[in-house]
Order: sequence, then C-alpha cells, then structure tokens
Amino acid sequence: MSEVSVPNDVTLMEKVVNLSKRRGFVFPSAEIYGGFRSTYDYGPIGVQLLRNVKDAWWRSMVQMRDDVVGLDAAILSPPAIWEASGHLKNFTDPLVDCRQCRERYREDQLEDPTTCPGCGGKGTFTEARNFNLMFKTHAGPVESDAAVAYLRPETAQGMFVNFSNVLQASRKKPPFGIAQIGKSFRNEITPGNFVFRTREFEQMELEFFVPPEEAQQWYEYWCRTRYQWYVDLGIPESKLRMRPHDPDELSHYSSGTSDVEFLFPWGWGELEGVANRGDYDLTQHATHSGERLDYFDQATNTRYVPHVIEPAAGATRTMMAFLLAAYDEEEVRGETRTVLRLHPRLAPYKVAVLPLSKKDDLMPMAREVLALLQPHVMCDFDETQAIGRRYRRQDELGTPFCVTIDFDSLTDQSVTVRERDTMDQVRVPVADLVAHLLPRLA
Ligand code: GAP
Repeated sequence: MSEVSVPNDVTLMEKVVNLSKRRGFVFPSAEIYGGFRSTYDYGPIGVQLLRNVKDAWWRSMVQMRDDVVGLDAAILSPPAIWEASGHLKNFTDPLVDCRQCRERYREDQLEDPTTCPGCGGKGTFTEARNFNLMFKTHAGPVESDAAVAYLRPETAQGMFVNFSNVLQASRKKPPFGIAQIGKSFRNEITPGNFVFRTREFEQMELEFFVPPEEAQQWYEYWCRTRYQWYVDLGIPESKLRMRPHDPDELSHYSSGTSDVEFLFPWGWGELEGVANRGDYDLTQHATHSGERLDYFDQATNTRYVPHVIEPAAGATRTMMAFLLAAYDEEEVRGETRTVLRLHPRLAPYKVAVLPLSKKDDLMPMAREVLALLQPHVMCDFDETQAIGRRYRRQDELGTPFCVTIDFDSLTDQSVTVRERDTMDQVRVPVADLVAHLLPRLA
C-alpha cells in the first residue's frame, strides 16, 4: 500500500495525462499542427496497453469459450443498415446554443437547463435541436445521394447483418455469441475528459443470441461476468459499480440495460453497457432486407427470432480507467516514486532487460537474456542512465519485472530480478529465468 495517499482527483487526472504524454501512452493528435480537437494517437507504450486490454477481452470473451465466435466487419456502411437499426432516426443528442456566449451544449448533460454554464446567462439557450451523431461521407468520386455512406457509430450492426452467415459457417446454435473489436465514430457534441469521450474510439462488443425465454437469465449472467472482468484485471471494487438504467434512459432498442461504471476523477462514468435488446435488431433487419433472420430448432421443430444480450464496452475508455486505477505514488527514501500498478496481463512491457553498465563486457550477455525472453513476452531494453533512474522509468511504465545484468552475472550466470510493486530483488540463474518469470506474469 502507498505511504503517501493518492493525489486528489483533479491532480490525479492531470498527472495521468502528463505521464501519458511524457512516457508515450497517448499523444494529442496532429500536435505539430496545433492538435485536432479531442482526437488522440496512441504512442509506443499506449499501443501496447490498448492492445493488451483488447487481448484480455478477446481471451475471456472468445478464446476461453466455445459459444462465442469472432468477426471483423467493415467500418463503411450503407444507409440501409442505419435506416433499419433506427440510428438514422434515433441516434441523436439534443443540442442547445447559448445566444449570449455562443457555446454549444448537450441539453441532457446540463445540470440546470435554464442556465448557461459558460457565461451564466439565464434563459439564453435556443430550443433544443436533435443532432444526429453519425459521420456521413460519400463512397466513390461522385458526391450524390446514391453514394452516401456512414462510418459505423457502433460495431454491433456488423454482427446482426452477418447473423445468417455466421450461423451457417460456424454451425453454432443459440445460445451463442458473435464478438467484435474495432473502431467506431460518433460526431460527439461535447467530446472531452481526455480519451473518455472522443469522436473516434474503439469498442469491444458481444452480441449474444439466446432463446427468448432465456433472455433474462443471460442478461443477469453477462452483468455479473462483465463486472468481474474489471475486478480480475485489478480495478478495485470501491471504484466500480453496476447501475441499472431508469426506464427513460433506455436506448431505442433496449428493454433493460445496466452500466458497469468506474469512479473517474469527475465522478461515476460508464465503461460498458449490458443491454437486453430483445428481438429488435434481427426483426428490423429481416423486415428491411427481406432476408429471414431467425433460427430453426430441429430438436423442438420450432422457428424463432433469438433475443440478444449485448455487453458493449469501450476499449479506449477502459484503457483510461485501468491507467487511472493503476496510478500510485509512494515515498521511497525521501523521494516520491510514481508507479503504475497495472495487472501483469495489461502491462505494456512485462520485463525490462537492463545491463548495469553500458560497458562492452555486459552487452553480449544482456542481449542474450533479451533474446531468451522476447519469444515469450514483450520486453524493453534500456542501457542508458543510472540504474535507479531506469528502475523509476520502468515503474512509470508499469513494467512488472526488471532483469539486471551486472559484472557478477558474467561469472555466476545469474541476474537480479526486481519486482515492481515490492521492489524486492532476487538472484536468479539465467537458465531458470523463463520458468521464474512466466508464472508470475499470467
Ligand atoms: N452497441 C451498443 C453501444 O454502442 P454505447 O453505450 O453507446 O452502446 C458502448 O457504447 C461503449 O462504447 C460505452 O460504454 C463506452 O465505453 C464506449 N463509447 C461510447 N461512445 C464513446 C465515445 N464517444 N468515446 C469513447 N468511448 C465511447
């Protein structure tokens, strides 16, 4: 546990944003041109962390199950999909403008809908207008109505329109699911809070198709399972909660939704929604496409439209929650040590290989140790600066283990293994190194 308490929440946010830039997790996009509002690039460390979040999701949702298969559907999509899904009509946010300061707000996010939070103006808002959040573009060289295409605002529809293809190809039967990870785009009115709400982001979604009478039981199962996923990957339960939606909050397709929420520095915010979508999507697409989207159960000789339970998470937003939850500071010998206590499965680098000195004698052995570890886990190699500073850098990256090669290593064929959280050091023969580290990284 920390000896110094975690900084207050506003400071925590600033510290995590600064660390992200300094260490290469997340950069503001197009920075050399002054940035591009609320878009971000994932740097050398961030790309690993984000990939590990997605891999952890895929592992638990696809690899470890025999009732879920994967999909990677197109981002560009024809209006017909969004007409059928209801997004063209319903995927809107209520937008208001302040006549006094000209700022724009989402009406449903205003604490007091009669007062402008920017200039304090009373009754200065315009009537709310419904603003569609989908990005519209044109496919091909002609900008005609016939060429209109949309960037998907959710990955989910890819699973519904491929329902029959997947059913036939995979030979699954309900209850079974289709999982997808990929980019989605929403023209958010008020993006912000770092990567919490951006216009381009990544989602991790499962559409789980079930016999109608089993829908409630699977809804409850997925609420429990998804909450536990965050706990297992190290988010303390004091910062997690499950919040059922009020009836007036429900999306146009949902008959029941619960959000997994994280305690962000500004308060509770959604990480993932688990929704009971009923037969809405398959019925809509069947009606609009004229294709039959149902399941014939040979055992009972009946045909039915499966109901859908959808756990829908944000990969980029979840990555941010893991960063915030992992950030810690503690006092070590009169200095503040910053450490990301990330779960080993999420840590960008699992091991850092550090030759004690840059002197020639140590380098060949250090390179051999690196080559020994690289086939198993993602490693960093750092030969610059004093060893203490290199340990601090790895602490800030969340690297669970540092392996140091010193001058004794040349004679005893052993290395020092330093553990991130306790800073304990043990001497391990190189021949035992892989066997020593791998179980501790699982
Ligand atoms: N298919 C259902 C669906 O898309 P959603 O609640 O709108 O549901 C699911 O989105 C998740 O996607 C959210 O819980 C959030 O983590 C993430 N998400 C949604 N909009 C986002 C945005 N503008 N920026 C970052 N993540 C976002």
